[in-house]
Amino acid sequence: RGKRAFVAGAADDNGYGWAIAKSLAAAGAEILLGTWVPALNIFETSLRHGKFDESRVLPDGSLMVITKVYPLDVVYDNPEDVPEEIKTNKRYAGCSKWTVLEVAESVKEDFGSIDILVHSLANGPEVTKPLLETSRNGYLAAVSASSYSFVSLLKHFVPIMRPGGSSVSLTYIASEKIIPGYGGGMSSVKAALESDTRVLAFKAGRKHKIRVNTISAGPLRSPAAKVIGFIDMMIDYSLENAPLQKELTADEVGNTAAFLVSPLASAITGAVIYVDNGLNAMGVGV
Ligand code: NAI
Repeated sequence: RGKRAFVAGAADDNGYGWAIAKSLAAAGAEILLGTWVPALNIFETSLRHGKFDESRVLPDGSLMVITKVYPLDVVYDNPEDVPEEIKTNKRYAGCSKWTVLEVAESVKEDFGSIDILVHSLANGPEVTKPLLETSRNGYLAAVSASSYSFVSLLKHFVPIMRPGGSSVSLTYIASEKIIPGYGGGMSSVKAALESDTRVLAFKAGRKHKIRVNTISAGPLRSPAAKVIGFIDMMIDYSLENAPLQKELTADEVGNTAAFLVSPLASAITGAVIYVDNGLNAMGVGV
């Protein structure tokens, strides 16, 4: 059979998750999505009504097939972790089996195994606050949703990943350089994610022959980025200062993800790969 991918973090057709799913589908992979519970209803309705059909078109003219969409909230590992107010929240009540453990179990039940795991999600409730003004709860919530979520996903999916499998996540240069405006602990979150990429690559590689990489992506006008508020400025800054003076497309990140999880990248693991028109290489803007 061809490869099967589980892509966590697509709730519409504007973010990196969707673009990665498309590039993987174009390369022949079967696509399973994990979509945030509160966003699931609107996503599935839009999908059913053909709202995404234009953006489902693959290079060969066919439409990307999404075999199954799983409700997912990466902040909870298992049902025992879910507090009462979430269980009874009306956006969650109509859904079941959306903790990380249960989603991995459902995928196993439905399909047996996967080859590719994609983490394309982040959430920092205080992202618009500078780190110096961030609360403990805001910081910890950002780490939980955006970095530990990768540890948890990999931990729960590794048992059903076939040897030679591969995983990829999305990071941002704010982990290593000061990016004013990327607050709420999100810079710390990305530093953790990059460090974890190296550490997880070790055990996953030794024990399971699975590769772990992360893509440090340039700015994209995604739903999450619009919440941060400075995305247009970052895009303009990149256009002005990067070696390649063009807007970055989500497809360019998607294609890199498809390369990284393919046999073409069979010796690449524990790596941070920049897909940012080269902006990271600049010392000063000119
Ligand atoms: P996006 O809004 O398309 O993706 C974020 C996704 O995370 C959404 O689908 C949201 O529903 C999901 N999500 C949030 N909390 C969740 C939870 N608890 N459980 C399950 N899903 C949850 O935005 P984007 O920008 O495509 O983000 C994808 C990744 O790319 C993130 O890791 C982000 O930090 C990273 N990135 C984005 C850049 C940008 O300029 N847009 C630049 C560099 C990295």
